[in-house]
Amino acid sequence: MSSNIWISDITHYYNKKQTSPTLDDINLTIPQGQLTALIGRSGCGKSTLLQMIAGLLIPTEGAVRISGHTVTKPSAKWNMMFQKPSLYPWMTVRENAALGLVFAGTYKQKKERVEELLDMVGLADHKDKNVQQLSGGQQQRVALARSLATEPDVLLLDEPFSALDAFTRSALQTEVAQICHDYGITMVLVTHDIEEAVAMADNVVIMNHNPGRIVGSMEVPLAYPRDRGTEEFGELKDYLFAEFEKIDQAKQAELAALEAQKDIQQTQQALAS
Ligand SMILES: Nc1ncnc2c1ncn2[C@@H]1O[C@H](COP(=O)(O)OP(=O)(O)OP(=O)(O)O)[C@@H](O)[C@H]1O
Ligand SMILES: [Mg+2]
Repeated sequence: MSSNIWISDITHYYNKKQTSPTLDDINLTIPQGQLTALIGRSGCGKSTLLQMIAGLLIPTEGAVRISGHTVTKPSAKWNMMFQKPSLYPWMTVRENAALGLVFAGTYKQKKERVEELLDMVGLADHKDKNVQQLSGGQQQRVALARSLATEPDVLLLDEPFSALDAFTRSALQTEVAQICHDYGITMVLVTHDIEEAVAMADNVVIMNHNPGRIVGSMEVPLAYPRDRGTEEFGELKDYLFAEFEKIDQAKQAELAALEAQKDIQQTQQALAS
């Protein structure tokens, strides 16, 4: 069973002194089984929004609902995977991958699933190794197997591949999108990377900063697995990049105009005094 995500009227202030909200009137519906990417400049509120979907942060106003239930706390049904894999360094690959099931008290019944997932992510020969003996890309695969072991309805990814080399990154992007697609998992991916968004998502949502708002979106009507060498892939990537640049330039112009207005006011005040 996978899940719809409804984000309705979210506005968020981290503290009362903020002049503009971190998130401003965010509305977004993510249909069950859809792969969505959130892109935007650093600081626009992507991680903040993802943490709200995960139940790790409660918005000042508005709410997130998953399958009709308001999200108020984390759940094993929706798993989050971060930029760094956050594994336990004293445990083996298998023990780390099994952790979610151990916490849920279902490891004994679902032992085989951990073995299958580790095979699937290419770690068949590494199961008894300590995770510290693995490369960054292999560690990220352990985290992925752990996230999938509990059979989540929703997978939330916060720049999970940004620390990896280009080759490993591209392989994992393809694998994760395929897995989510095959299992009907609703995925939300936060990224800076336009190519990653086009390679993985059905729908790309563009956010703006100061305040954090949704300002655009683009459907990616390509089948999985996606071939990055096709003309269509290149065109979608170029289009998204152009949209992003257009939105960004408009924002920079708006901020510059605000600064100029402030300067004029200060000059007028100085002249009047
Ligand atoms: N715990 C916090 N307390 C106060 N302000 C915060 C907190 N976390 C984030 N912020 C601020 O909220 C804004 C949005 O942060 P957020 O981490 O969501 O951005 P982001 O889009 O994920 O950026 P990046 O791409 O750099 O990860 C930033 O201005 C940040 O400084
Ligand atoms: Mg972030």
